Amino acid sequence: MNLLVTGGAGFIGSNFVRYMLEKYPNYKVVNYDLLTYAGNLENLKDVENHPNYTFVKGDINNRELVDYLIKTHEIDVIVNFAAESHVDRSIADPDIFVKTNVLGTQALLDVAKANNIIKYVQISTDEVYGTLGETGYFTEQTPLAPNSPYSASKAGGDLLVRVYHETYGLNANITRCSNNYGPYHFPEKLIPLMITNALEGKELPIYGDGQNIRDWLHVKDHCAAIDLVIHKGRPGEVYNIGGHNERTNNEIVYLIVEKLGVSKDLIKYVADRPGHDHRYAIDPTKIMTELGWKPQYTFETGILETIQWYIDNQEWWKNIKSGEYMNYYQKQYGDR
Ligand code: NAD
Ligand code: DAU
Repeated sequence: MNLLVTGGAGFIGSNFVRYMLEKYPNYKVVNYDLLTYAGNLENLKDVENHPNYTFVKGDINNRELVDYLIKTHEIDVIVNFAAESHVDRSIADPDIFVKTNVLGTQALLDVAKANNIIKYVQISTDEVYGTLGETGYFTEQTPLAPNSPYSASKAGGDLLVRVYHETYGLNANITRCSNNYGPYHFPEKLIPLMITNALEGKELPIYGDGQNIRDWLHVKDHCAAIDLVIHKGRPGEVYNIGGHNERTNNEIVYLIVEKLGVSKDLIKYVADRPGHDHRYAIDPTKIMTELGWKPQYTFETGILETIQWYIDNQEWWKNIKSGEYMNYYQKQYGDR
């Protein structure tokens, strides 16, 4: 099988590229990524010379280049990770989210359709469902009700994927996963931000009262689920992915503080995120029963491994935190 992985230099995409190269010695992977602030070829340093791996820099909106790659590499399957992915950035500057997550998805779908791609998989998010109260779960039937420019743009992309299946017969799937954590997670997101700030002795900014709940899944469990969807997903179906690991943000930050042995005084409650979703929680029954997916990590082992990864890979995140990312950090949190 020949795979075109778009956005493969980001957090989940890079973990997925490595996962597929390790698991399938006969598959070829073309990683197509624009290398925005979040794309980092350091994430794939260990596979850059792998005989089945090719990297090409480019935008998913560039139909000509995507078309050329599909033809020259005889691509069978497209897996689209490429996106603007950070909610806070979307609140500050929504335009690029629509351009990449909506228009970019449509451009990819057009080229996939024109080339009779065997399978197209859209990597989406549970955030398209909006927010939950204290009870209940997101199922594949939950209505889309996004609350941020990011989640609205992801929902827009999802609706286009649905249309290309229903109207044009494209063999497409959508996956909607809960919050991922693990190695190569960009340090603007909660878990890597808190680990790296704690290691640097910086403040740990919790939005609002810290009682918002996210449902955490190790990135490798997400990759295994996508692998199953590529091979066994029924045409046109949506699959929710999550491992029943709900935690409040306070629980996450206190755990990191405790495991790293830093002072609780670093914790600072700051202004809430506008439109902050209260709770996400996935019902993964469909992917578990239909495709036989089961997460391998418990949160307790996964988070310890992840904390250790950030301790062992300080050069990776220090390079990011000392670069262009600093401008964003100062805008978001001031001079903390
Ligand atoms: P990320 O921000 O780490 O990576 C996104 C990648 O896309 C980067 O490498 C970036 O360079 C690339 N990219 C951006 N615009 C592009 C464009 N126009 N053309 C080509 N490449 C472009 O994001 P992530 O956390 O790895 O998320 C990957 C996907 O998974 C996203 O679609 C996101 O919505 C979805 N998702 C993320 C999570 C999570 O917890 N991180 C959970 C569920 C779903
Ligand atoms: O649910 C899947 C989604 O998870 C993905 O689609 C997104 O791409 C991904 O970024 C993530 O979105 P969240 O908004 O849930 O993740 P984030 O790490 O930004 O925030 C997690 C929680 O932590 C959220 O309730 C906001 C809070 N938070 C975040 C930051 C960055 C803080 O309290 N302080 C912070 O500094």
